[in-house]
Amino acid sequence: MVTCLKVKKEHAESARQFLKEKGWLDKARVVGSTPDRYVILPLAGKFPKNIIKKFPGSKFEAKNLQKFPERPGDLKQLLRNMKQLLRNILSEKDIEQVTKSYDVVGDIAILEIPKRMEKHDLAIAWALKRTFPAIKVIAKKVGKVGDLHEIYRIRRLKILTGENRLATEHKESGIIMRLDLGQVYFSPRSSHFSPRSSHERERIAKLVKPNEKVLVMFAGIGPFALVIAKQKPVNVIAVEKNPDAVKFMEENIRVNYAGNRVIPILGDVREILPELKEKFDRIIMPYPEESWQFLELAFNYANPKATIHFYAFVNEKEIEKAKERIRKIAGKAGRQVEVKRVVVAGSYAPRTWRYCFDILVR
Ligand SMILES: C[S@@+](CC[C@H](N)C(=O)[O-])C[C@H]1O[C@@H](n2cnc3c(N)ncnc32)[C@H](O)[C@@H]1O
Repeated sequence: MVTCLKVKKEHAESARQFLKEKGWLDKARVVGSTPDRYVILPLAGKFPKNIIKKFPGSKFEAKNLQKFPERPGDLKQLLRNMKQLLRNILSEKDIEQVTKSYDVVGDIAILEIPKRMEKHDLAIAWALKRTFPAIKVIAKKVGKVGDLHEIYRIRRLKILTGENRLATEHKESGIIMRLDLGQVYFSPRSSHFSPRSSHERERIAKLVKPNEKVLVMFAGIGPFALVIAKQKPVNVIAVEKNPDAVKFMEENIRVNYAGNRVIPILGDVREILPELKEKFDRIIMPYPEESWQFLELAFNYANPKATIHFYAFVNEKEIEKAKERIRKIAGKAGRQVEVKRVVVAGSYAPRTWRYCFDILVR
């Protein structure tokens, strides 16, 4: 329970600003509201009792307002705690490795545990759970993806502890994303350490100009399309061939009120694009494992002066070679191109990164 100031909705913003300036707002907790148009502001520090006089109709109430999930600022301390819990079990080197290589999607943590540490699976999961109580499921990656998993890029996961589910809701850039990790691919902010895809989606959204025609190939459950549509007044066509991913994308479009902006299409881009008979001002290709195969197709459906955001895993010494390969493929499609920017959008292997090549098509 925490002491809160309950204020009328019309005074809420000025009260929030006032408390913030004075250092009396508990910024670690969410702000609440009631159906009868009151807002509940969590208090912190030594606030004076007479603040209720400043906002007519307000009063103090004890409420159970939730804490925000841990923020990067708190993280160093939390990770020190987690490392402490593992100290009697793993070597320093192994502790570094496991605490650096896990993803968090919604309230599910996905560990990557090397074979030599497998017998400590549960101890590692327990340490993570103790450190981050908001995490409700702890799973680990098992083996390689294969078969359908390979085509749809679904990770093979085994639940180690917690609730028995892989469905969750992930929030990123103000977007809600519902998904089931057993059915679809999703790459989150990644380990708490290295912001990967989410920053990249923000970067692309910022580049989009009003009224551009945007195509997201390999759209998954819709993160790129939704972040763009939320930030810019554009229509986005999002093509994805995993029916489960499209089902979640439709739900995500609905819960984010993006129904008039994002058009989900189920199918293989190689079949869908010829049927659509449209060309685009911006094409996003977030499938670094296989995207080379589809680059010529993208050039065929790019308007003059279009930008293609092309993702690929490339060794850092081979960027010039990759640019040359891009120019060659463009030539085959009869297009002239300029690689305007090469951005690191994630890590992959030692010295090999997930690069985004921003290609201007003439
Ligand atoms: C690496 S995932 C990226 C998903 C999404 N863009 C994201 O960032 O979350 C690649 C996605 O492309 C889809 N895919 C693979 N080949 C495809 C094709 N030929 N046409 C449409 N989608 C395809 C897979 O099902 C998978 O969901």
